Amino acid sequence: MAGGGLAPSNGAVKHYNGRVTSFVIMTCVIAATGGLIFGYDIGVSGGVTSMDEFLEKFFPSVYQQEKAAGGSKSQWCQFDSQMLTSFTSSLYVAGLISTYFASMVTQAFGRKSSMLFGGAAFLLGSAINGVAMNVAMLIIGRILLGVGVGFANQAVPLYLSEMAPPQLRGALNMGFQMATTIGIFVAGLVNYGTGKLHTGYGWRISVALAAVPALIMTLGAIGLPDTPNSLVERGLRDQARATLQKIRGTEDIDAELQDMIEASEEAKKVNDPWSSILRPEHRPHLVMAIAIPMFQQLTGINVIMFYAPVLFKTIGFGDSASLMSAVISGLVNVFATTVSIATVDKFGRKVLFLEGGIQMLVSQVAVGAILGTFFGDAGTGKLSPGLANLVLALICVYVAAFAWSWGPLGWLVPSEIFPLNIRSAGQSIVVGVNFLFTFIIAQLFLMALCHLKSGLFYLFAAFVAVMTLFVVLLVPETKGVPIEEMNLVWKKHWFWKKYVLDDHIKPSHPRGD
Ligand code: BGC
Repeated sequence: MAGGGLAPSNGAVKHYNGRVTSFVIMTCVIAATGGLIFGYDIGVSGGVTSMDEFLEKFFPSVYQQEKAAGGSKSQWCQFDSQMLTSFTSSLYVAGLISTYFASMVTQAFGRKSSMLFGGAAFLLGSAINGVAMNVAMLIIGRILLGVGVGFANQAVPLYLSEMAPPQLRGALNMGFQMATTIGIFVAGLVNYGTGKLHTGYGWRISVALAAVPALIMTLGAIGLPDTPNSLVERGLRDQARATLQKIRGTEDIDAELQDMIEASEEAKKVNDPWSSILRPEHRPHLVMAIAIPMFQQLTGINVIMFYAPVLFKTIGFGDSASLMSAVISGLVNVFATTVSIATVDKFGRKVLFLEGGIQMLVSQVAVGAILGTFFGDAGTGKLSPGLANLVLALICVYVAAFAWSWGPLGWLVPSEIFPLNIRSAGQSIVVGVNFLFTFIIAQLFLMALCHLKSGLFYLFAAFVAVMTLFVVLLVPETKGVPIEEMNLVWKKHWFWKKYVLDDHIKPSHPRGD
């Protein structure tokens, strides 16, 4: 796209020179593979924790409970074990702590350094998990995996949003979510295969194979340039200019570079991004950094992602059919993400948030009603095969809605709204909150299912209603706005405008084209 380097004096959105180069697409595709490790891990834990050999070796009491379930025992409670859930959720605690350190590395040494460090930690974690002899080794491996995703999720979305030209930022950033869904799907397939092995070590193959996506991301990141924004921030202006020229495919990048330089000079005035983010002019950013990842998790998506095989077993599918159902919902997740990639820069973020929200709400209520009616509160009822398939179909409708709304947007929108001085710190709040709520859901879900039964689905539906209202009222549209010009968006917003002071809107510069 040829932009005019227009300096808006009227609050209009600015356009820079340049076009979408194959170089920028290639770098973004490589960086997005960071989502693979996140996704592989999400997808692998649920399947592994439903494998008999794994349960027998590490969680024998859960294994016995599962075998004993049936007849008069409530199906709702058969997998309720805090130890078992701590296997899944320990990763998120580690991730949420490490992302704070990632923010410092990302700011001081660049986005690429954090990706490399994250990849290395993840590799080590997958090796330890693959040879684990006891629960302690399992948990140590999971902690290292957590450090890996803590760093990767902090750096990759920022990297993508900074590299991408504004008019394609949504689609390129969503490469991260695309890779996440591919990771989840591949993990589901691997579990399906290893679950059939019955050799006692199928789960080992599943967890050790996490090394493959880690290698892809780490090796890929070695060859990546850092973002011009980060290079400017670190005083490497010549390198920033050269990178910007290469990714925008033009020599004339002065307007964009100048905005980055100004953003970085602003950033230098701030010694501590953590206290800056608490200042009133950053209130809208802070609210989004907390609310968006929190709501993303309160959609309940990880109930499906972590526990789909367990959930499908609960509603009456057999072992293999349960793992297969997880593969089906995983495939829906991948394909539905492409809808978002194709439309986000055309229709904007809000349309997707709203459509996805309504679709999720309807399917959650329907699943709750079917389970409540036919499965009963005692959890001793049985679903007919037809109804069990209907529940699977409704879950796919729900997953599709998430995959083109809160899934990718939950990472995209926060990564594009922060000014440079608080960008790294802000993104680590996003990752921290995301992981905190992932942890809470992972830890509480099996217990909540045991107590709330089908009501759990209504609870998530209520959360979705609240977050949809939040989007309508408080989330601004960020489509096409250059990342270092985002303040305009708050200034024009009916509620947030009172927080953004006029001197926080950069003056326009009559720069040449
Ligand atoms: C979320 C994950 C979720 C995944 C599902 C991501 O955006 O952060 O928690 O498991 O989407 O595709």
